[in-house]
Amino acid sequence: MAERPRLLITRRWPADVEAALRGRYDLTVDPDDRPLAPAQLREAMAQFDVLCPTVSDKIDSFILSTPGVRVKLIANYGAGVDHIDLAAARAAGLPVSNTPDVLTEATAELAILLMMMASRRASEGEHELREGRWSGWRPTHLLGQSLAGKTLGLVGFGRIGQATAARAVKALDMKILYHSRRPAASEIEAETGARYVSSLDALAGEADVLSLHCHGGPETHHLVNAALLRKMRPTAILINTARGSVVDEAALAEALAAGTIWAAGLDVFEREPKVAEALLGPPNAVLLPHLGSAVEDTRIAMGMRVLANIDRFFAGEELLDRVV
Ligand code: 8YV
Repeated sequence: MAERPRLLITRRWPADVEAALRGRYDLTVDPDDRPLAPAQLREAMAQFDVLCPTVSDKIDSFILSTPGVRVKLIANYGAGVDHIDLAAARAAGLPVSNTPDVLTEATAELAILLMMMASRRASEGEHELREGRWSGWRPTHLLGQSLAGKTLGLVGFGRIGQATAARAVKALDMKILYHSRRPAASEIEAETGARYVSSLDALAGEADVLSLHCHGGPETHHLVNAALLRKMRPTAILINTARGSVVDEAALAEALAAGTIWAAGLDVFEREPKVAEALLGPPNAVLLPHLGSAVEDTRIAMGMRVLANIDRFFAGEELLDRVV
């Protein structure tokens, strides 16, 4: 029997997916589920046919320029690929695939969760209760804001932005504005009654909740900076389920502490798993540890999507989700 292609998954994946991968390929997994160091990633580039990284692996030009590369495909577990230097992969002639679609609903749900937690001060309340500081019901205790009838401003209106809009309209009776590189097709706008706003500053000024759904990377680096935060209303809430690099965390921490915006709900951070010290202080920041796609079925579907891409690659067919 011909040798089976050698695959490395850099973290533990759901058991069903690992079993499916093992059934078709020569699979290597680190039983301890630790992120690989750059030297280990370079070693892997020389030893495996397919590298399957996650957001916790930085696949930069140093890794991609490993001499004697054996890797022929980088099949990413996740939709976002800003942890991979795509230009360097292109230059090295290495195709890259990702896993879009399958995590849309889970991530949209998490954006809604953060909006609700931030608007109703759920995190503050839970901390107070667990720490034994709850003195009982009173009319003025932890008063929040209702989202009904409020304006949700979406930065980026791709699959996850649209799914978030649909939930915000149906479940919360919100109105939708969005900003993106170009307006969406009118049928897509019609599904949620979304209206395009050509300037990000104007969107920030009009939104009661500003939710980020754009890609990470140099183009969107610190898009939400001190100047944009100043455009937001003092009652506004910022939600980030996209990438930490989109927000200037120092500027956000200042805005939260000074009350120039009302609250933030963050699932992603610039230097994960490190969280900027300044963000840990303000109680009006709801902070979650990158749980956007953390639903069992979703994580299985993501793995199966990676497998589908690898299968196509070895069958000599076009990748299902080619990024490069
Ligand atoms: C993934 C995500 O779990 O897919 C993405 O872009 O942000 C997450 O939901 C993570 O990226 C896995 O690599």
